[in-house]
Amino acid sequence: MAPACTNIRWHDGCVERKERQSLLNQKGCVVWITGLSGSGKSTVACAIDHALARMGKLCYVLDGDNVRHGLCKDLGFSTADREENIRRVGEVAKLMADAGLVTLVSCISPYRRDREFVRGLMSKGEFVEVYMKVPLSICEKRDCKGLYKLARAGVIKGFTGIDDPYEVSEKPEVTLEATNVAGELVTPDCMAETVIDHLVVNGLL
Ligand code: PPS
Repeated sequence: MAPACTNIRWHDGCVERKERQSLLNQKGCVVWITGLSGSGKSTVACAIDHALARMGKLCYVLDGDNVRHGLCKDLGFSTADREENIRRVGEVAKLMADAGLVTLVSCISPYRRDREFVRGLMSKGEFVEVYMKVPLSICEKRDCKGLYKLARAGVIKGFTGIDDPYEVSEKPEVTLEATNVAGELVTPDCMAETVIDHLVVNGLL
């Protein structure tokens, strides 16, 4: 990695965040959706994005697979690379929230320490961690991309949930489960509604 910069100084902007918020009629925040591959992170991010757009709120989705096509294309899945991936996505999410966007992040972000690092970048209350509490057995059964099969066969090494850990958060702001108390499947739209309710109740929308 390049050496840390020296001789730099923060330059304050000329338009305050509050002015941007009133222009957009919304506050920026980061909704960080974490969970195993196949747990539905991207689908829920998309459902929230869609629902908020219908409410006239501007969002942007930073999806793990997508940012790895550009911003993070030099990174793999070692512990250090995942850490750097989450740091970069976290810093970008912070800028987007500062710009006034409801920033939806869907990254596995398997290590608690890295998620806490991003939480620490944000102002209090502006980081909403959403945990997709979907058991490995269900994610593996779905295997939408065929990656679990490859990981079980040893073709992919260091796959989250198989031979690399997923560390559950102690206190996510929102926990979404695949089924409700009656054992029925919860739809992505319903999950999106739960997250949006949380944003409204906590004054983020
Ligand atoms: S991380 O851990 O947060 O840095 O991962 P992320 O940037 O979200 O990228 C996850 C997607 O990469 C694919 N993939 C893997 N996931 C986990 N472990 C390994 N080894 C791996 N290799 C490739 C996979 O498609 C993930 O997408 P999702 O949407 O989570 O299934």
